[in-house]
Amino acid sequence: MSVNTAQIGELASIETASRDEIAALQLQRLQHTLRHVYDSVPHYRQAFDTKGVHPDDLKTLADISKFPFTTKEDLRRNYPMGMFAVPRNRIARLHASSGTTGKPTVVGYTLKDIDTWAELVARSIRAAGGRPGDTVHVAYGYGLFTGGLGAHYGAERAGCTVVPMSGGQTEKQVQLIMDFRPDIIMVTPSYSLVIAEEFDRQGIAPEEISLKVGIFGAEPWGEGMRNEIQHRLGLDAVDIYGLSEVMGPGVASECIESKDGPVIWEDHFYPEIINPETGESVADGEEGELVFTTLTKEALPVIRYRTRDLTRLLPPTSRSFRRMGHITGRTDDMLIIRGVNVFPTQVEEQIMRDPLLSCNYQIVVSKASHLDNVEIRCELQHEANDVSAETIARSAKKLQHQIKTNIGISTQVAVLRYGELPRSLTGKARRVFDQRPRQE
Ligand code: DLL
Repeated sequence: MSVNTAQIGELASIETASRDEIAALQLQRLQHTLRHVYDSVPHYRQAFDTKGVHPDDLKTLADISKFPFTTKEDLRRNYPMGMFAVPRNRIARLHASSGTTGKPTVVGYTLKDIDTWAELVARSIRAAGGRPGDTVHVAYGYGLFTGGLGAHYGAERAGCTVVPMSGGQTEKQVQLIMDFRPDIIMVTPSYSLVIAEEFDRQGIAPEEISLKVGIFGAEPWGEGMRNEIQHRLGLDAVDIYGLSEVMGPGVASECIESKDGPVIWEDHFYPEIINPETGESVADGEEGELVFTTLTKEALPVIRYRTRDLTRLLPPTSRSFRRMGHITGRTDDMLIIRGVNVFPTQVEEQIMRDPLLSCNYQIVVSKASHLDNVEIRCELQHEANDVSAETIARSAKKLQHQIKTNIGISTQVAVLRYGELPRSLTGKARRVFDQRPRQE
């Protein structure tokens, strides 16, 4: 493993191009994408027509602000594949992420999209110092989540040996890391600390661990956590950002030589920061909601997709592309629990399946030895208040099971008697109590 700060020769030429060259490429790709969606996706044709804009109206990059935003709700309304811009027989792969209720958000890729994605994750791995011949241990979950397979294809593309471990089985993670001696790990930051704890438990010191670099993402983390991970695993930790609707991991990724925020791969994604209330663009450097327009995607191009993530755009440093700051929060109520995206409405939906339970509930999230811990507190219906303790226990167990199978997270469930949960004085019920320490 050779971490070299001046690997310019190995960079794609666009990574060090002038801003004018980048803007020219973006403009040409943006014009193409707008035409592609207008011609192929009824939703976009209608949304553009309603707003009175046509793809030909985009003469400069700034003209993008004339076009309508796209939201998760648009994807939901067109479930499962109504937003796809190519015929079904050109879709090579589907992934899915959480919707706000039962139905997931479905995303699709052509073979070319998968190829672009692999290339961008490979670029991210190179930015992290990875080189052909390195071994990459992938502990992001495989399956519908984009983390595992996204990392996997990228690592292969970068010429690395991949260990497709997926998440969980912490002891086995440690065993394989000790036996296969990987150079790089790709995993959520919180799970990396669980792995670190297991190393500790087995009396293995950071110096004995082969890992040199970790590429962490899928959930918010900050400099405090970076220091802790680096110290406990004895590696350099970099931040990788992405979301399924835009592609998956590798929309932006940090350079090891600067560790100053993920570099947005601007040749494939056009970023904007907007004021989430007014929808107006804000200047670079100011915090707001991150919005992306894809520039090269075939199957699911998105126009001005509102990520709901709050951050800032930062000037270029190690590459010619702009960077983004750490994610400081979200404009919606989505929680990320051990890397799984969860909307309170999904939990509510499961509670409402039980006729004994009322719609008064609380979700309490805390941290217990680096892992997120979730307690669901719900209440009996007034009419059901005198049911037996056994019935209550059964109800709690059933809800816990349903949340695990339908949403994919482990919880503790407490079913309380009617009236035991505090009532809101303001009229607006507070459902979520996120007691996890805030990442700066
Ligand atoms: O989490 C893709 C991914 C996988 C990214 C592995 C990085 C590594 P989704 O499941 O669609 O996709 O969740 C996307 O996760 O809108 C953010 O809120 C959050 N997120 C992703 N990366 C970061 C990060 C994947 N580096 C949502 N920092 C996004 C903070 C992140 N939040």
